[in-house]
Amino acid sequence: MLIAHLSDPHLRPRGHLYHNIIDSNAMFLTAIRHLASLDPQPDLVLLSGDLVDMGTEAEYAHAAEMLALIPQPVFMIPGNHDDRERFRACFGHHGYVAHAGPLHFAVGDQGALRILGLDITVPGAHHGDMDDATCLWLEERLAEEPDRPTIIMMHQPPFDSGIPFIDAYCCRQGARLADIVAGYPAVERILCGHIHRFMQLRFGGTMLVTAPSTTTAIALRLHDNAEPASFVEPPAMLLHHWRPQLGLVTHLVPIGSFQGPLHFF
Ligand SMILES: [Fe+2]
Repeated sequence: MLIAHLSDPHLRPRGHLYHNIIDSNAMFLTAIRHLASLDPQPDLVLLSGDLVDMGTEAEYAHAAEMLALIPQPVFMIPGNHDDRERFRACFGHHGYVAHAGPLHFAVGDQGALRILGLDITVPGAHHGDMDDATCLWLEERLAEEPDRPTIIMMHQPPFDSGIPFIDAYCCRQGARLADIVAGYPAVERILCGHIHRFMQLRFGGTMLVTAPSTTTAIALRLHDNAEPASFVEPPAMLLHHWRPQLGLVTHLVPIGSFQGPLHFF
């Protein structure tokens, strides 16, 4: 089972730029083309939030057009730049999208791994929250198949990254998630977006990784008083490869055209 993981494309209406500077739409199309060039092809695609930038209908309409270019099943959660109800209105015809309330999803029929998507967004705010209802939903899903290898996907990371201007908008009450996951060793990975950078750490007894954005990268500034900033760094996606005898192997895959193949040695 091979899972491609894209994040934070911040799509705009056709012809509009992200922050009036960056062509996030073109960068997402490049990501889709790169995805199509992978051999073997991923079985499914995950997208960990901030599908669009302003949460408008026009953005979602354009996003839906672009997503239709991906032949694999795509499973998405919203981020703080999404609008939950407009997301639902656009993608509610997909079976995994909840008809009411938070856009949590549980997908278990795509292969060996079960995928749980958590909608931890707080409408109108940029931070996330592991609130009571989300904790309960997650505990119930995990208890349904406690030994099944599982991926949990959420938008805001539930830890302090050390980059202060993004940590102000992390997922609050992250310790509750750590406590829940610690009871389920079959949780292979927690996947996050939001931070527009690749990071990995041990969390709740499992491994947590954050996905780069297909557009910009949040500045790697680790000082307490760091000025917020972003850069156009090489975009990338993650590829999660389930290998039954080993577990889940995560690859960082830069997006673009690169010289090669060259001689191995
Ligand atoms: Fe984002």
